[in-house]
Amino acid sequence: MAQFSESADVPDMGRRQFMNLLTFGTVTGVALGALYPVVNYFIPPAAGGAGGGVTAKDELGNDVSVAKFLENRNAGDRNLVQGLKGDPTYIVVDSKEAIKDYGINAICTHLGCVVPWNIAENKFKCPCHGSQYDETGKVVRGPAPLSLALAHTKVNDDKIVLTPWTETDFRTGDAPWWS
Ligand code: FES
Repeated sequence: MAQFSESADVPDMGRRQFMNLLTFGTVTGVALGALYPVVNYFIPPAAGGAGGGVTAKDELGNDVSVAKFLENRNAGDRNLVQGLKGDPTYIVVDSKEAIKDYGINAICTHLGCVVPWNIAENKFKCPCHGSQYDETGKVVRGPAPLSLALAHTKVNDDKIVLTPWTETDFRTGDAPWWS
C-alpha cells in the first residue's frame, strides 16, 4: 500500500512559494499576489534585531550582501527582500554603489496583495484590483486608500539593516499611518 506524505509538506510549500515571490515579485500576477496573506500564515514571525532593526534577508533566508545585491543592478531598480516582520520590502538602487536610505513595503494597502514594480511605467501596479503607486510608493490610484509603508535602510558591514519609519512620511507630509 502506497504511503503519501505530501500533506506534511504543506507549510514548506507555502514558504517556497513565498520565497519565489520575493525573487520574482516584479513579474508575478494576481494569483501569487493574492497568496501572500495565506502564505504569510505559514511564516514564523521574524526575529527582531536590536533597536527594532532587522537585517534584510534574501529568498533563502540569508543576509543580503549589499555588494552582491548591487552587482547586476542599475540605478532605479527596485528589488524585494524580506524586511521588517518578514514583510516583502523593495530596496531601491540609487547608483551602482549605493541603495536609497528607504525601503518600500510591497504589501498593497487595499487588501494585502504583494505589489509588483513595473519598470516600464515607473510605478508599482497592484494586479489584484488595479491600485497604483508612484516610484516612491505613494498611492496615485485607488482603491488602495494609503501609500505603501516605508522603512529606513542603512548599510552596516555589507548588510542592509531596516528600521521602522516613525517620522513624517516625506511623500505626503503626514504622520506615518503604519506606526
Ligand atoms: Fe491591491 Fe486590491 S489588493 S488593489
